[in-house]
Amino acid sequence: MDNQYLWWRDGVIYQIYPRSFADSNGDGIGDLNGIRSRLDYLAELGVDAIWLSPINPSPDVDFGYDVSNYLDIDPKFGTLADFDALVDEAHRRGIRIVLDLVLNHTSDQHPWFIQSRSSRDNPFRDYYLWRDPAADGGPPNNWQSIFGGSAWEWDAQTGQYYYHMFYKEQPDVNWRNPPVRKALLDVFRFWCDRGVDGYRLDVFNMYFKHPDFPDNPPAVGLRGFDRQKHIYDCDQPEMFPLLREIRAILDSYPERFAVGETFLSTPQKAASYCAAGLLHTTFDFTFLHSPWKPARFLKAIQDWEQALQQEGWPTYVLNNHDNPRSATRYGQGEDDNRLQVAAALLLTQHGTPFLYYGEEIGMRDIPITREMVQDPVGKRFWPLYKGRDGCRSPMQWNDSPNAGFSTGKPWLPVHANYRQRNVSAQQNQPDSLYHFYRKLIQLRKEYPVLRNGFFQPLTFEPQRLLAYLRQNADQTILVALNFGKRPVRLALGGMVRRASWKLLLSNRRDHLPPLKDGLLLPLEGHEVLILLQEA
Ligand code: GLC
Ligand code: CA
Repeated sequence: MDNQYLWWRDGVIYQIYPRSFADSNGDGIGDLNGIRSRLDYLAELGVDAIWLSPINPSPDVDFGYDVSNYLDIDPKFGTLADFDALVDEAHRRGIRIVLDLVLNHTSDQHPWFIQSRSSRDNPFRDYYLWRDPAADGGPPNNWQSIFGGSAWEWDAQTGQYYYHMFYKEQPDVNWRNPPVRKALLDVFRFWCDRGVDGYRLDVFNMYFKHPDFPDNPPAVGLRGFDRQKHIYDCDQPEMFPLLREIRAILDSYPERFAVGETFLSTPQKAASYCAAGLLHTTFDFTFLHSPWKPARFLKAIQDWEQALQQEGWPTYVLNNHDNPRSATRYGQGEDDNRLQVAAALLLTQHGTPFLYYGEEIGMRDIPITREMVQDPVGKRFWPLYKGRDGCRSPMQWNDSPNAGFSTGKPWLPVHANYRQRNVSAQQNQPDSLYHFYRKLIQLRKEYPVLRNGFFQPLTFEPQRLLAYLRQNADQTILVALNFGKRPVRLALGGMVRRASWKLLLSNRRDHLPPLKDGLLLPLEGHEVLILLQEA
């Protein structure tokens, strides 16, 4: 077992949505100086790295996920000098910086696309995917945009269609074109040279589409996008040599890292991209989509571990900027009991935990009305789907106006619960969710077995209780999580029963009741019990 602490494998990574974290100049939009002013908070929470959702210049059709220049900082977030200062001060506190690279598509305002669409013989034409219409004048094939409608946009000026998996303002680039490939690989070098420690690769498994653009075969589904099998518009074999090349670039710098956002992910697919020589790790989103059922979480862990075959390294996520928050999915009103169980589940896994800003204080989604929707997917699918604004509301720092996020009018409203639910209040309250996250992160630092130990379930078809061991050659930790509000008892069998256990952490008690031979381990409603086997 490699005992040297490796930040991206052994640490905890915290995702920041920069628009919503901290606003330093009162324009209502979070920025880099705002993040820098909160580094002490992040250090105290104990996170090893921050992943920043995109900060490159962007017309914000998809709030940063439409980039118009890969080598600069958007002025609303600050300058390159502000960025350097952030990197520097983060590093001084032992916090690494992970950037979000959106390399599947650019903004339609990127100079490449402006050139590309200007004429058919422009040297940048092949930077994107242009095709003639089908025989009937319609789109070249049946491919759909995940944001709704055909993925092909007609360009009257040059008489061809261009391809976009997301909005029409996000044209997909042509990764098969050598100058494109070179320019995009240089983006990794540019930011590595500036001290960036890692990358989150936005929808990387879509970079290549089938070169002949065949129709996707049909599938059963509700919306147009779901009514086809996405076998030609993503996951093409060319991805593997490209990932090897990206990995080689990262490996030419010390301790650099990449995590891939697997689009249309399954554990098997996500695992296939983080085998030896490819990405360090990828996201599997099963936790994030799981109902509040211990059996489902157990299955998610087992499927992910099995798919990885001990080759790739797992990650676990309960939240990100694209989905309703776990506090909204699992929390009941303002009750945080389930969120303590969820926190313990996430932070005692064999795999890197990713947190999303505000998760540690149980931030809920803000309710969205038609008038306030910002996310274009919300506008498009309203009222069937209200978009992703709910989970992007300003960080709740304290009970002052705008929750201490901004002195101006925030770009999205602050949640109405901010006077009670905020960082300062929870810092002053020893049994808050914030302190529970902190303790779990500390425990993970203190006990290597929580980072590298094997996962071994103790409950097999859990209805209310999930229990497992984390075990390496030196230590064993037992984690028992009561998902329900009623007390339960965990029957400890054989070896586990005979061992002697010491209480490391519980949200319900300070001492473990004496465990006699044959005794059942009692848990209160929503209790988290973490025990260490004594030598
Ligand atoms: C990823 C991002 C999402 C974005 C999309 C297009 O799924 O997480 O926010 O809209 O890619 O870049
Ligand atoms: Ca600002």
